[in-house]
Amino acid sequence: MKSKTDIIHPATEQSIRNAGLALANGSLVVIPTETVYGLAANALNPTAATAIFEAKQRPFFDPLICHISDYEMLNLLTGTLSAQMRRLTEAFWPGPLTIVVPKLTEVPEIITAGLTTVAIRMPSHPVCTAVIKAAGVPLAAPSANLFGKLSPTRPEHTLELSSSVHSIIDGGPCTIGIESTIIREIDGRFVLLRPGKITAHQIESALNIPVIPTEETELPDAPGQLPSHYSPNSQVILIDEGATPSLVAEHSVLLAFRRSRKESPFAKTIVLSSQGSLTEAASKLFESLHTLDALSPSAIFVETVPEEGIGVAIMNRLKKAAFRE
Ligand code: TXA
Ligand code: MG
Repeated sequence: MKSKTDIIHPATEQSIRNAGLALANGSLVVIPTETVYGLAANALNPTAATAIFEAKQRPFFDPLICHISDYEMLNLLTGTLSAQMRRLTEAFWPGPLTIVVPKLTEVPEIITAGLTTVAIRMPSHPVCTAVIKAAGVPLAAPSANLFGKLSPTRPEHTLELSSSVHSIIDGGPCTIGIESTIIREIDGRFVLLRPGKITAHQIESALNIPVIPTEETELPDAPGQLPSHYSPNSQVILIDEGATPSLVAEHSVLLAFRRSRKESPFAKTIVLSSQGSLTEAASKLFESLHTLDALSPSAIFVETVPEEGIGVAIMNRLKKAAFRE
């Protein structure tokens, strides 16, 4: 077993160059992004991409997002963007927006789970950009966690994958803390496949046309967006803000939105944002769930947040974390 200090490397010119070489040679590397940490592989090398699925125990029907550092790399994955899509990339790249567009034949089938489309984003994290440039190829990267588990927002959250990777590049805590917004264009209509920091409203303002939530289309959900996902080991139970559940088992914990309670039945409480900032709450969401889950509580009670702005994405993740078959 490699020790934590052997595998987590501060982002230096040297560690980035080594990571780039390893990726170009087919190895996996954990990379920071502004949303969550990613488990990266050369997106044009099907064998390397297959190793991602094996390391994460991810089903092959769940396609990967390709990360690029510049527009030249876009041309390796897809043809000319529609004028509307181009407007979105100009407005939101580099940043937490993933576009789903027709794929070129050069994109391996394993990346797209056999679909004719490919998901692409240009991240804004400078270390991520530097690693992609050092690799010289687009990087396929899902969140760096075992399939269905909590997304990682710090390098230590990815240690469960250490036996499968060349290195973990430390780019600090992720500032956004929630995965990118995913948008797809179908026959001139724009469908929101996954909510994120960039809201449907922001996309509508950029395009001047309404964005359709995926539930309102005849499309299946984005592949891989299963009802149960983003799950800690302990059970997650959603409650209204300030509500006291009638039954609280011993050693239960609380993830509160704005306030802790005076007389609380909870063994521990973490407050997401005492200012009531949804942006701060998003950035702390997965980290706080990791911390609470590590206490092996009997349940994690989580207060709901207003479904506005990035609150839509927070509630999307929380509902999936709470879902039990
Ligand atoms: O912020 C993010 O997007 C992070 C960081 C690492 O960049 N990545 C991430 O990847 O969240 P992942 O694997 O957890 O989510 C990828 C999802 C798939 O589950 C699927 O829903 C959607 O992207 N997706 C990928 N390719 C698609 C396609 N061709 N059509 C529709 N949805 C697709
Ligand atoms: Mg994920």
